[in-house]
Amino acid sequence: MPLPPSSRQLLDIAVEVARKAAETAHRMRVDGVSTVATKSTDTDVVTAADRAVERQVVDALRRLRPTDAVLGEEYGAGDTPTAGPGGVRWIIDPIDGTVNYLYGLPYCAVSLAAEVDGEVVAGVVRNVVTGDEWTATAGGGAYRDGVRLHCSTQTDLGQALVATGFGYDPARRSHQARVVAELIPHVRDIRRMGAASLDMCLAAEGRLDAYFEKGLAPWDIAAGGLVAAEAGLRVTGLRGLPPGPDLLLAVPPALFEPLHDRLADLDASGGP
Ligand code: IPD
Repeated sequence: MPLPPSSRQLLDIAVEVARKAAETAHRMRVDGVSTVATKSTDTDVVTAADRAVERQVVDALRRLRPTDAVLGEEYGAGDTPTAGPGGVRWIIDPIDGTVNYLYGLPYCAVSLAAEVDGEVVAGVVRNVVTGDEWTATAGGGAYRDGVRLHCSTQTDLGQALVATGFGYDPARRSHQARVVAELIPHVRDIRRMGAASLDMCLAAEGRLDAYFEKGLAPWDIAAGGLVAAEAGLRVTGLRGLPPGPDLLLAVPPALFEPLHDRLADLDASGGP
């Protein structure tokens, strides 16, 4: 049996594929964007670029790694193989921050991660507009442009700049807004910038102190979550659960307990 690829090899592939994907997204943005469909609600849009970029990424991965599995935001697993033991699965968000992309706001990214046996081992997040690129391998650290990243050393929740996001379902948003309304008096401020992967990358370099969100999908979490964890943030769910759709927190160790406990008190993982 061939040796499984190393995290470094998987990262090199991810970077090569994500760079080309980001070029396509950028070019399609310059040419003009239109919404082609809506998904979960009328505000959950998908553009032609989301679909074209995901197709391009899947095609490239098929050429480079024909037996690997794939999970993408727009087409799910498609007709790609299922990952067996020791197998690789790629997790793709072709454009994270689709609403920003639609409005021409420079906060949207291609996010691509490789998972082996259910554990994310390599990931890249590339801003489609600015070309900023964050990478990480499991146990190998997180980097931006060759510089190793370390999360914020803030110890006072009252001084922390905390990012979050909102889902597309109105009932969920109401719950999320109530949580934020109760949290904001206790932190420096809140940011809602509109791309979960980039929020985690900014937290990885201390340009945000912490991030949390309910309702994220695997493609929102995979690459950015690894970048954040490798930069020293604790990436978890509430009450010892792993990060997932109920809640993801990416919080520096010194802020973890106060932010976690407040979010637990506010039932941040509850609601619809
Ligand atoms: C969304 C963004 C947003 C977050 C939403 C995600 P999409 O991803 O990451 O910041 O708040 O929960 O669904 O739809 O732009 O790929």
